[in-house]
Amino acid sequence: MTVLLETQRLWLRPWNPETEAEAAFRIYGDPEVMRWIGSGAYEADVESLREKIRKRNGECDRLGNGTGFWAIAPKSATAPVGTVILKQLPDGTGQVTLDWEVGWHLRRDAWGKGYATEAGQAIVKYGFEALHLSVIYAIAYPENLASIRVMQRLGMTNLGHTDRYYGRENLTLYGVGSGESGAE
Ligand SMILES: CC(C)(COP(=O)(O)OP(=O)(O)OC[C@H]1O[C@@H](n2cnc3c(N)ncnc32)[C@H](O)[C@@H]1OP(=O)(O)O)[C@@H](O)C(=O)NCCC(=O)NCCS
Repeated sequence: MTVLLETQRLWLRPWNPETEAEAAFRIYGDPEVMRWIGSGAYEADVESLREKIRKRNGECDRLGNGTGFWAIAPKSATAPVGTVILKQLPDGTGQVTLDWEVGWHLRRDAWGKGYATEAGQAIVKYGFEALHLSVIYAIAYPENLASIRVMQRLGMTNLGHTDRYYGRENLTLYGVGSGESGAE
C-alpha cells in the first residue's frame, strides 16, 4: 500500500483513478513530458490511463514491500501535478532486480518550482528510514539534464553509465546511500 507522506508544500499520496485520471492525463498525455520516459509513447486517452492507474495501485498493494507511485499534490492546488515513484528496477528481460530507484514526473506547468526535488527528498528519506534500503538509484537518459539536476540536488553520486536496467544502453546512473557501486 502507498503510504501518505507530507512535506512543507506537498502531500504525497496515492492517485485516485476514479476522480483523477483527467489530471494524470495532463501529465501522461503530454509528449514533451513522455519523451523522457520509457519509449516516449504518450497516453492516447483518459480511460486507458484510468485503468493503468487502477492496475498500478493494485500492484503496489499486491507487492506490499514499499513500492509506491505517489501523486505529488501541492497543498495550494486542487489536483496533483506529478508523480514520484519508488520501485525495484527491472533488468533487460523485465525481471525485477534487488536495486531500487526513485523517479519523478511533473506536469509541464509545474516544472521549475522545486516540486520534484521536494518530493524526491521525502521519498529517499522514506526509503532509508521506513524500508531500510541501503542504496537508492535514479536513472535518466544522458540528455535529460532537468532530471539529472534533481539527482544532484538530492546529493546523489554520479555512477557513470549503465546497461543494466530496462533493456536500455547507456543510461545515466546516480545513487545515494551506503555501498553505491559503480556502473557497468
Ligand atoms: C525531471 C523533472 C521532474 C524536473 O523538474 P524540475 O521542475 O526541473 O525540478 P524541480 O521540481 O526539482 O525544480 C527545480 C527547479 O525549480 C526551481 N525552484 C523554484 N523554486 C524552488 C524551490 N522552492 N525549491 C527548489 N527549487 C526551486 C529551481 O531553481 C530549479 O530550476 P532550474 O533547474 O531552472 O535551476 C521535469 O523536468 C519533468 O517532469 N520532466 C519530464 C519527465 C522526466 O523527465 N522524468 C524523469 C525521467 S528520468
